[in-house]
Amino acid sequence: MLIDTHSHIYDEAFDSDRQEVVERAKAEGVERIVLPAIDGESNERLFDMCREWGDYVVPLMGLHPTSVNDNPRWREELAEVERLLAAPPQGIERFYGVGEIGLDLYWSRDWQSEQEEVFRAQLELALKHNLPIVVHTRDAWEEMAAIVEEYRGRGLRGIFHAFSSDVAMYEQLRLAGDFVFGIGGVVTFKKSALAEVVKSMRLEDLVIETDSPYLTPTPYRGTRNESSYVRFVAQKIAELKGETYEVVAERTTANAKRIFNL
Ligand code: NI
Repeated sequence: MLIDTHSHIYDEAFDSDRQEVVERAKAEGVERIVLPAIDGESNERLFDMCREWGDYVVPLMGLHPTSVNDNPRWREELAEVERLLAAPPQGIERFYGVGEIGLDLYWSRDWQSEQEEVFRAQLELALKHNLPIVVHTRDAWEEMAAIVEEYRGRGLRGIFHAFSSDVAMYEQLRLAGDFVFGIGGVVTFKKSALAEVVKSMRLEDLVIETDSPYLTPTPYRGTRNESSYVRFVAQKIAELKGETYEVVAERTTANAKRIFNL
């Protein structure tokens, strides 16, 4: 069995066939699907999925860094995340982590200080509620790592989602707390630099993810991603590590269960 540790199948991209997408994931051996939040615009759709699918989906709550950019309401959105973590909406038992949160300097550096403030505030929320974090990082690995390292020794744990840095950053981050690294479709791409890095990563440090509807693995690259495709990521990691598919499935699933307390 597999766990897709990062999937946005509550996105509108799935409005016409969400039921079939979930059924396909189940049929392909996906045991749970983790749903990271983005912002107030999409939270209701995430909650609706939880009400419909119950334990099969694992909801997180957080404010995504790109939703801070150019958003005059980011303070209210952050306050809403805090409220929801303390009191989940009707029909949702609890949130299993704080995410996705982090730093994204790809689109613009104009909101870096606001993103950092929001990131730190949500790290504090994770510690307060004793929840793991799911960290989104784009063009900001050094900046993100510096903030996480301020918290070293305070019990932070979680996932560096869509890991895309190098072996040195991997070795640095794995010492910053109880962290694992989310590997997705990018590892299957031709001439993937990530594939070379994954060869040096320990299986005990890896979880697998799709980031649906984005970053679709080979052989479906270029089409909409969905949780059932997480098996192609597991297969590629097995090849790179010289392990069987079953071993990769079992170990990454165990890692995800440990991090999210499933
Ligand atoms: Ni995401």
